[in-house]
Amino acid sequence: MRVLVTGGAGFIGSHAADALTAAGHDASILDNLHPAAHRTRPAGIGVADVRDAGAVASALRGVDAVVHHAAMVGMGVNLDDLPEYVSCNDLGTAVLLAGMARAGVRRLVLASSMVVYGEGAYACPTHGPVDPAPRRPAELAAGRYEPGCPRCGAALAPQLVTEDAPLRPRSGYAATKVAQEHLADVWARETGSSATALRYHNVYGPGMPRDTPYSGVAAIFRSHLDRGEPPRVFEDGGQLRDFIHVADIARANAIALEAPADPGLTAYNIASGEPHTIADMAGALADAYGGPAPVHTGQYRAGDVRHIVADPARARARLGFHAEIPFATGMAEFAAVPLRT
Ligand code: UD1
Repeated sequence: MRVLVTGGAGFIGSHAADALTAAGHDASILDNLHPAAHRTRPAGIGVADVRDAGAVASALRGVDAVVHHAAMVGMGVNLDDLPEYVSCNDLGTAVLLAGMARAGVRRLVLASSMVVYGEGAYACPTHGPVDPAPRRPAELAAGRYEPGCPRCGAALAPQLVTEDAPLRPRSGYAATKVAQEHLADVWARETGSSATALRYHNVYGPGMPRDTPYSGVAAIFRSHLDRGEPPRVFEDGGQLRDFIHVADIARANAIALEAPADPGLTAYNIASGEPHTIADMAGALADAYGGPAPVHTGQYRAGDVRHIVADPARARARLGFHAEIPFATGMAEFAAVPLRT
């Protein structure tokens, strides 16, 4: 297939473009080299913005499918970032989808995120599955990190989140990812097309951008270590996440593109299925790097969720995808690979 990879110069997009090329597809790139992700300009990349309808129309010429990674990611600095998140992620997706409808391109793979779920799934020992409210700053300041049962206050046990879980974005970025999925669903239904939303969990691997306000925790810890500093673990380090290597993510893109897809939007968790605490991850990375050992700062961030662990069963059953790179192998490699400066 001729495939347009938007955001194809970025961390995940560039690995996805390479995986598509390796699978025999003809991948082209549309990327605006956004300064939040690119401090230097890679050679040989023509700069074009997914919000530019003319640039999108020419990039879509002769294309069979789009793999859409162009987006601003991360937690951001503060609400001043909101207009840029909405512009890049939602206006950008809208311009792209309108261009695809005009050009008759009927296949989309969308880079979505586990952030669409907000606080993950929990069960109370007495009341069963419950939806805890966002954690309050006063609770976090008092060191009460675990969400409590909304009915009795008891400590909750985290559960695997399936794709049918309600979408409850807890940050501006998360809200734009939910909107991207909804826009893709509208496009798919109105044009009789197929959209596959890959909800990535915590991605890490070679070429991850160094620490910025927009980086995920793996890049932040690696950057601490590169400066000779210990990784700084927030809360009590017991937050659960699912870390997945970018090579597995890239492979999931190729598999999703080639798999038969139903009309409309179908979402998949793309995760390893092996949750780890942030303290575990910091320890594994610091060990592989050769120190210094992580420190627990007790800091917390507004808008962080406590646990988010995925059920990867749907991707395995319908796409035949499962993550192949084990956590220990991936973290040992990540301690040594170059990051993007
Ligand atoms: C992350 C990404 C999100 C992406 C998602 C899925 C960011 C900010 N978040 O969400 O964009 O869609 O994965 O791939 O990029 N922490 C520390 N020390 C630090 C920084 C963070 O302990 O210096 C902790 C945080 O408090 C949090 C955990 O690490 O509990 C994960 O943080 P982070 O990677 O930023 O955010 P996610 O919510 O996992």
